[in-house]
Amino acid sequence: MLSAWAENRVKAMRDMNRLFRESLTGVNPLEERLSPRFEFDKLVTFAGNKKTPIYNWFYYKEGFSRDFVWSALEELAIPKGSLVLDPFCGTGTTLLAAKQAGYDSAGFDILPLGVFVSKVKLAEGYDMGEMEKQIRHIRSLKFGEPENKLVDIRFLDMRKVYSRYARRDIPFFMEEIFKVEDEKIRDFMLLALISIVGQASNVKKDGGVLRIVRKKHLPPVRYLFHNKLKRMFKDLKKAGPTPKVSCNVNVGDARNIDLKNNSVDALITSPPYLNFVDYTKLYALELSLLVSSAREMESLRRMSMRSHVTAEYDNSGVGWDGLKPLLSQVLKANPGEDKVPLVVEGYVKDLYTSISEAARVIKPGGHAVYVVSNSALPGITVDIDIMIAEMGGGAWIHR
Ligand SMILES: C[S@@+](CC[C@H](N)C(=O)[O-])C[C@H]1O[C@@H](n2cnc3c(N)ncnc32)[C@H](O)[C@@H]1O
Repeated sequence: MLSAWAENRVKAMRDMNRLFRESLTGVNPLEERLSPRFEFDKLVTFAGNKKTPIYNWFYYKEGFSRDFVWSALEELAIPKGSLVLDPFCGTGTTLLAAKQAGYDSAGFDILPLGVFVSKVKLAEGYDMGEMEKQIRHIRSLKFGEPENKLVDIRFLDMRKVYSRYARRDIPFFMEEIFKVEDEKIRDFMLLALISIVGQASNVKKDGGVLRIVRKKHLPPVRYLFHNKLKRMFKDLKKAGPTPKVSCNVNVGDARNIDLKNNSVDALITSPPYLNFVDYTKLYALELSLLVSSAREMESLRRMSMRSHVTAEYDNSGVGWDGLKPLLSQVLKANPGEDKVPLVVEGYVKDLYTSISEAARVIKPGGHAVYVVSNSALPGITVDIDIMIAEMGGGAWIHR
């Protein structure tokens, strides 16, 4: 007899199988090659990273988990020492997992936030004595008045975002961090500060947007920052040696990858989804600590992939045959609405351009793994998995 837990699990699997079958339209021949892989269920979310040291230094809800990367590398039998690329690297899950497993890696993200977080998570060779000294020093500081103010993110009222104490303490600690001479230690400390600003604010990430919610109890910046530093330092002390591999992460555009033709063995990535989410808004508090002005943030917004309305990119031609029929379906389902078709068109063009770039840099016989979500738009669903497989020439696909 099955326990209640096992019975529930079996029922859930049956429901998932039914949903999987119902999601197939029977129209596209590539659907025959889809196979359900429910064991990846949680791995394609950030959930698995939440308790994993270093991976959890910065909570990136849109990320996937270390074990997903390890499963993909193992299942595809990628030989050790190969070059693994993530052109939408976010906070570096692919890069860190590849490094720990003995692969060279390269990563790009359009936003300096992801690149910064990735760099700190990948850094090695700290002067631990100096680090301990600097942490002790910053913990011993009395409150002070900073010389600079926080960058105003404009679309939210900063007086509502933070208490007046947080508006003083965040720039105060930033100024103290910038006095640290050792660049790696400075970045480590800055990541600790960046990673707690959300908790120290009245802002809640709600789906793809930020909302001001007057929180009853706002933990003080100093308390959150000190605790975070302590926890990160403990993780560093416990971390064992990692294989000697190369690992490069830079600000860059997946639509124009700065790598040579046929240089990559495997690509493991997750592009933004077609869900109108603007990362520069969703992570505006964190990003504001890395830019010098609101204007700089706005220019980043226009540069990102067109999964939202404010992004811009000039690529008039697109070689994917499916775009026209898709757009006419979208227009039919959304008469008189101009934003949805515009975003769909921009997104599909950007996805196509990035896949063409991936095809250029991946070696013949190499592999590409994309974590994507299909989209439910008003009146129409868009199967991004099938679309990517078509664009990529019908590569293997699992849903
Ligand atoms: C789904 S997230 C990737 C998360 C990552 N797998 C992780 O575990 O942290 C998608 C990323 O694509 C980035 N992005 C958006 N447009 C881009 C572009 N044109 N080129 C490179 N990265 C871009 C976003 O900033 C975001 O970090």
